[in-house]
Amino acid sequence: MMYSQKVMEHFRNPHNHGKIEDADGVGKVGNPVCGDVMYIYIKVKDNIIQDVKFETFGCVAAIATSSMGTDLIKGKTVEEALEITNKAVAEALEGLPPAKMHCSLLTEEGIKAAIEDYIHKQKS
Ligand code: FES
Repeated sequence: MMYSQKVMEHFRNPHNHGKIEDADGVGKVGNPVCGDVMYIYIKVKDNIIQDVKFETFGCVAAIATSSMGTDLIKGKTVEEALEITNKAVAEALEGLPPAKMHCSLLTEEGIKAAIEDYIHKQKS
């Protein structure tokens, strides 16, 4: 299994790792096949993702894509963040081995789940 240098950098030194206690939105997603689980926490103000953190209990690719995905949505509007795809995250990491593309889906789904939770809380 060959990972790009960027993937290994983000795996060894993940950005935005941790938890936001008073998050405005929390997304929890998992892959039932491998059993990996990811939490994404967001803070939103004036429709901008002010802060984002993740906790990922998973493989190298899941951790690296969490790190890159959270970097990509930080400072973006909620709408822009919703448009981030797992492909964009993988490209920003200089690619993923084909067998590991599904791991990047966890990141896309985690971000979407956190934003949906935020939107849902706004309405209630
Ligand atoms: Fe489970 Fe990568 S093997 S997310």
